[in-house]
Amino acid sequence: MKKFFLIIGLLCGLTTMAAEHRLLSPDGRLALSVYTDNGQPTYTLSFDQTPVVLPSHLGLQLRGEKGRMAFGTNEFDNHTDKGHSLMAGFEMDEAVQRTSFDETWATVWGEEREIRNHYNEMVVTFRQGAADRYIQVCFRLFNDGLGFRYIFPQQRNLNYFVIEEELTEFAMPGDITAYWIPGDYDTQEYEYTRCRLSEIRALQEGARKANLSQTAFSSTGVQTPVLLKTDNGIWLNIHEAALVNYSCMHLDLNDSTMVFRSWLTPDIDGTKGHIQTDAVSPWRVVMVGATAKDILASRIVLNLNEPCKIEDTSWIKPMKYVGVWWEMIAGMRDWSYTWDFPSIHIGKTDYSKAKPHGRHGATTENVKRYIDFAAKYGFGGVLVEGWNIGWEDWFGNEKDFVYDFVTPYPDFDVEEIHDYAKSKGVKMIMHHETSGAIRNYERWLDTAYQFMNKYEYPAVKSGYVGNLLPIGEHHYSQWMVNHYQYCIEKAAKYKIMVNAHEAVRPTGLCRTWPNLIANESAQGTEYQAFGGAAANHTTMLPFTRLIGGPMDYTPGIFENDIHKINPNSTSWCNTTICNQLSLYVTLYSPLQMAADLPQNYERFQDALQFIVDVPVEWDAPYYLEAEPYEYVTIARKQKDKEAWFVGSTNGYEPRTSVLDLSFLPEGKYTATIYRDTKDAHYKTNPQAYVIEKKVVSNKSKLKIFTASGGGYAVKIERN
Ligand code: NOJ
Ligand code: CA
Repeated sequence: MKKFFLIIGLLCGLTTMAAEHRLLSPDGRLALSVYTDNGQPTYTLSFDQTPVVLPSHLGLQLRGEKGRMAFGTNEFDNHTDKGHSLMAGFEMDEAVQRTSFDETWATVWGEEREIRNHYNEMVVTFRQGAADRYIQVCFRLFNDGLGFRYIFPQQRNLNYFVIEEELTEFAMPGDITAYWIPGDYDTQEYEYTRCRLSEIRALQEGARKANLSQTAFSSTGVQTPVLLKTDNGIWLNIHEAALVNYSCMHLDLNDSTMVFRSWLTPDIDGTKGHIQTDAVSPWRVVMVGATAKDILASRIVLNLNEPCKIEDTSWIKPMKYVGVWWEMIAGMRDWSYTWDFPSIHIGKTDYSKAKPHGRHGATTENVKRYIDFAAKYGFGGVLVEGWNIGWEDWFGNEKDFVYDFVTPYPDFDVEEIHDYAKSKGVKMIMHHETSGAIRNYERWLDTAYQFMNKYEYPAVKSGYVGNLLPIGEHHYSQWMVNHYQYCIEKAAKYKIMVNAHEAVRPTGLCRTWPNLIANESAQGTEYQAFGGAAANHTTMLPFTRLIGGPMDYTPGIFENDIHKINPNSTSWCNTTICNQLSLYVTLYSPLQMAADLPQNYERFQDALQFIVDVPVEWDAPYYLEAEPYEYVTIARKQKDKEAWFVGSTNGYEPRTSVLDLSFLPEGKYTATIYRDTKDAHYKTNPQAYVIEKKVVSNKSKLKIFTASGGGYAVKIERN
């Protein structure tokens, strides 16, 4: 009998199988269980003994391997075919590698100076005897959630493979509440919906009929971060961290079982990832909090990213900026220079002969006006869009040769602007609109960054508008993820900060590459000029989009009526001025724009003062009130200063916020409060505000009214 066991042991490579592996978070409140269910790796997660992720399978379907998944469903059938791909036929090793980690790291910039990274880790090995290969899953449990990633060790039978689909499940505890935007391979520029999981399908199909939804791949597909609330009041957020050399994950919901399953973005050929071992997947993240404030306070996504890889970070400097931008977004001026278009071929537009249409925004004269404004009010930077040739010609395939990112329009004098800005102590911010022509951009990248170094531009706003070239490539594919990463790493070599628009949504990579100073990757302020945006959109962003990294939301619109600057427009900005002020605190970013026109700011100089005063560097946040979709109130302490700033951003329902100042140290302070008047309203009376000063202490609880689409902003200084 003994001999028999010994033989079995040898056959199994001296590994023994385990029934279950368990892991607890450092505070013991989160409990993870990992096991195999009919040969499929499976995990569950509970919070204070309440299940928050029900039994969920892990695995991947590889191209060319047997095992089949019915398209568009959560069903896969591994019994009709003999093979299991990387989905089933697994046995779990008894031995696991366990570690605990507790370290505090200093941020280059961020909501706080230091972040604690504290977790318990367990690496579990799953062996597929029949295929003679194995994979591992590394699980990390933090007090604020779970992160796990696939590890694909290099081995004879798993060397190079192509992902057909990743099949990671997140089984929800019932038909809970979700805050979501639809799945889409090319844009996140959507507004959020709050509903039950079971309602997602009908809402998406309705939106698609009304033509509001673009390329959603499935009626139950959503993008991450997706915020969720269980019926017992537990908050969850599913996202990913450290998206590198892999395709961006969406989630597809099986709305009979309430199981989300990963749905990767395809490459041109329809496959979803080309992997060469050794390799790892990005982290799959389930944030868990007892309150919505816990979601705001979680740093799990940053913690799951690698430490900073840039040695000297002294050149990475947060800043506020203005720009020749809103004029174009509002349709008052153009990015282009001439109306002699469309031209068909590269070089067709002869700018020396072309007749300017007279509405070009990026003229030397107009840029100087913004530089003067920036210098007067202490803004660090001036962005100029539409400064370089090509805007007339970026149609069809020809766009592969349009922009060179170094040739200015005839009325933009790059030398003169450089000298003028420098003399005023203002930095110019570069703009690279790639028009989605990726090969063209990569061909020019070194030259373009060298041009920036020559003219001392510290930062670039890059953009990926429109369908991509190569044709058929998607904004969030593995190939594009690698492109964005290539730009960030190359920029670091040139000491350039990057603010990429229309790029893949951030996954905490700014910890590793803090020159990734911001992204758009969500619906920004521009939609207010494109017909108006939901007044509560900004109450969602801190709980969703901002989880992965800061957003260049471009706040600060004081003039709601776009018609006043563009007679052809009927757009209206659905916010009050105080709501706009609050965003400088509630939407954390080391790069903050004051997006409106200088002439609009000059009309409201007392309100502008808050934007002038509010910093972009902080010591610590205080999350005071949080109800996603409704309101959010955040206070922050300024870096190295005895000054605090508070923002309260309100959705549709007018309310009275109670601002509890107990976060202040002992002492007397003066609070300057910018608030909506009682009759303020985003639609009918958006510019109605009062500014008042009050002496306060940490005993103060201020009751402050916020209008529909309103908010307030407060500056607090020690007396
Ligand atoms: C879209 C960006 O979000 C916007 O900020 C920019 O002005 C345009 N693309 C043009 O590049
Ligand atoms: Ca955009």
